[in-house]
Amino acid sequence: MYLQRRNRITRKSEAIRSMVRETILTPDDFIVPLFIDEGENVKTEITSMPGYYRNSLDVTVNEVKELWSMGLKAVLLFVKSKDELKDNTGKEAWNKDGLMQRSIKAIKDAVPEMYVMTDVALDPYSSYGHDGIVKDGQIVNDETVEALVKMSISHAAAGADMVAPSDMMDGRIGAIRKGLEENNFINVGIMSYSAKYASCFYGPFRDALDSAPGFGDKKTYQMDYANRIEAIKETVMDVEEGADIVMVKPALSYLDIIREVKNAVNVPVSAYNISGEYAMIKAAAEKGWINEDKAIMEVLTSIKRAGADLIATYFAKDAIRILNH
Ligand code: PBG
Repeated sequence: MYLQRRNRITRKSEAIRSMVRETILTPDDFIVPLFIDEGENVKTEITSMPGYYRNSLDVTVNEVKELWSMGLKAVLLFVKSKDELKDNTGKEAWNKDGLMQRSIKAIKDAVPEMYVMTDVALDPYSSYGHDGIVKDGQIVNDETVEALVKMSISHAAAGADMVAPSDMMDGRIGAIRKGLEENNFINVGIMSYSAKYASCFYGPFRDALDSAPGFGDKKTYQMDYANRIEAIKETVMDVEEGADIVMVKPALSYLDIIREVKNAVNVPVSAYNISGEYAMIKAAAEKGWINEDKAIMEVLTSIKRAGADLIATYFAKDAIRILNH
C-alpha cells in the first residue's frame, strides 16, 4: 500500500509524541480551592470528597506553605461559617474579624507571594443556603449586590489579591469594581464566575461547607445547562463591567462553552473542575474501574485544551506529583 501521508509517524514513540504535543500542564495552570474551618488542629475529610479536607486555619497555613513549595501559586478560599452566624443579611461575610478575613491575613503573612483569591457569595453565611438575600421566597438581586460589594471590600482590606464572585447576580462585577476603586483597592482583581451553570455536580461542595439551599434550587440565578449563547452574553458583560479573569463552571460537561468563551473574550479564561467531577473520579478509582492518575491528567489536559488558561481543581497537588514523576 502506498500512502502519501501516514499520520501515525508522529505517534511512533514517546519522544516524537512529546515533541508534537499541543497541550502541556504546568503548575502555573492551577488554582487550589481550600476549605477553612474554625478551631485548631482540625482536619476533617469531606465524606463525598475522599482525600480532600476542611482544615482549621493553622493547618491551612501549613498547607499553603507546602503548596507554594510545590510550585503552586494561587489559592481560592472558602470558609465554613458557624450556624449561629448565619442569617438572611449575610453580614458575617464582611465582618473584619470573620474567619475569611482572618484567613486571608494569616495566609498573606505566612506566604506573602501566594496569590490569594476569595470566594464572594452569601451562601456560606445565609440561613437559607442561597447565594443572595431572600425576600418572599425570591433571591433579590440589587440588595444582594450591595452585600457582595461590602464583602469584596472587606476581603481586599484583609489583603486578598483577587475576589471571585460566584453568585451570578446581575450587575455585581461593575458594582464590585466601583467599590474597589472608591476604596482605593486599585490593585485588587476580580475573577468573575461569569458562566456558572445550575449543576447537580456541586453536591459534594455543599456537603463540605454545609451550604445546600434550604428551599428550592439555584435556577433563578445560575444558568440553564441547555444554554450556550447565554454564556457568551454573561461573559462579555462581565468583561465590560471590569472582570480581569472570567470563568466557566463546571468544566467537564461544559468544554464546548470554555472554547467558545475563550474565542469570544480577550481576558484570561478559567474553568472550575468542581467537586462532583472530583468525586466521580475518586469513586470510580476506588472501585478499581479507572486508573486515578491517568484520569486526572486526561481530564485536566482536556480542560486546558478546550481553552482554559487557569483551572481551579482539587487535583492540583496530584497533578504536580504526577508531573514530577
Ligand atoms: C457557591 C459556590 C459553589 C461552588 C463554588 N461556590 C456551589 C454552588 O453554587 O452551590 C461549587 C464548587 C464545587 O462544587 O467544587 N457560591
